[in-house]
Amino acid sequence: MDTREFREAGHRIVDHLADYLDRVEDHPLFSAVEPRVLQQLFDEPLPVEGSSIHSVLLELNEKLLPYCTQVNHPGYLGLITPSPTPVGILGDFIASALNQNVGAYSIGPSAVALERRTVRWLTELAGYGPGAGGNLTSGGMMANFVGLKLARDWASKDKAQHEGVRERYAAYTSEERHVAIDKSADAVGIGREGLRILPTDERFELRVDALEAALEDDRKKGIRPMAIIAMGGSTNTGAVDPLPELRKIADRVGAWLHVDAAYGGGMLISQKHPGVLRGLELADSLAIDPHKWFYAPLDAGAILVKDDTRLTRSFGMQPAYLTDLLDKDNERYNYYVHSFEQSRRFRSLKVWMGFKRYGTKEMGSWIDANVDQALRLHQLASEHADFEPAVKPRMSAVCLRYRPAGVDEDRLGKLHATVARRIEEGGRFWISTTSLKGRTWFRINPVNFRTRLEHMDELFQLLTRECPRALTTV
Ligand SMILES: Cc1ncc(COP(=O)(O)O)c(C=O)c1O
Repeated sequence: MDTREFREAGHRIVDHLADYLDRVEDHPLFSAVEPRVLQQLFDEPLPVEGSSIHSVLLELNEKLLPYCTQVNHPGYLGLITPSPTPVGILGDFIASALNQNVGAYSIGPSAVALERRTVRWLTELAGYGPGAGGNLTSGGMMANFVGLKLARDWASKDKAQHEGVRERYAAYTSEERHVAIDKSADAVGIGREGLRILPTDERFELRVDALEAALEDDRKKGIRPMAIIAMGGSTNTGAVDPLPELRKIADRVGAWLHVDAAYGGGMLISQKHPGVLRGLELADSLAIDPHKWFYAPLDAGAILVKDDTRLTRSFGMQPAYLTDLLDKDNERYNYYVHSFEQSRRFRSLKVWMGFKRYGTKEMGSWIDANVDQALRLHQLASEHADFEPAVKPRMSAVCLRYRPAGVDEDRLGKLHATVARRIEEGGRFWISTTSLKGRTWFRINPVNFRTRLEHMDELFQLLTRECPRALTTV
């Protein structure tokens, strides 16, 4: 492919995507196709001969695009994947063309500087001081893993990196944690059984009395507290654990405080609801994902740490083949020495471009609109005799359920699954289901700058139609 062909194809792709974004609401949000049909569509041997870009694009038009989940559609209110900003889309395009490897200064000097500035903006938003640092990750899963590894290394006085885990440790977290925490507990060697899963109160926030009891129980057994892992916006309801109180407890018992704000971090730019994440700056480390509520295209998570030197302590290995002997004054920042990943995509470009193009003012207004949408749905459910909201949303995640009198929990579980499936088939909305305190709920989560309040009214009307209808079939 020469540059003439690249230019022509590129123009065509941008035109096509612009048309697609203009008309995204006209198409079904989710395609009712069997997974096996999709597998057959792509069932072909590895090409030996190439074909023209024209035919490759035609094939994508036929096989890929019609069956994408339209996360740009304003009715996409499901798992936390935002409508990406158009400028973020362009940012990723440029990042691929330049292919800077942000892992090593020598493969992307200006990209490293841009990424460091992006991390600095995030640490400042979180309320951290100049000694803070961090890096962009593939997402919240990896950011939480790094957070727990930092905790483990700190708790072992930097011995665990060499000796493995020799002591008996426990980490404390809420029943509303994300599964990222369970996987990370396994990966850092304390095991999932080393996690103390604690109950939450009626706002789905970690109960401090339960934490104190678990700490005391472990103390008696000689088990050391490695970390308290708090939610800064839980996946189900946007719950925020009592961070200032948890900081005090962590200091008293000698534990690291990690906060998972992978989703909730977006609230840091809300103009209408400041202070929802009060105490975030007290955490030793935190996960914040620009690819969730800063509307960046996948992928872009971030691990931020109050004391930047902890990253180097945890990851600072420099094999000879990666040692930069040209760096005379230690000025060339090599991300691989301060993070788990080595080769790193230039993820920060789309995040940086998003902040530059829109500013926190415009992006913050999208956040506030998403919160208003969740509040509207909460209000509609509160006012309806047969619906019940789980809790007043503090962010944009809202859970509600249909619970007409005299229907047992088992049937209600099936009903919610049936309705979510029918809504998917309808192609106007996509919502998920979840479980809270043993009961099934619809989970609706606007992180989409195209969604408007009217969409909430339309969705609620749909629920009031579909729920009684499903009751006759389950
Ligand atoms: C609170 C929270 N933490 C972590 C994650 C995992 O993030 P990712 O899917 O980017 O790995 C999620 C995903 O939704 C989340 O909601």
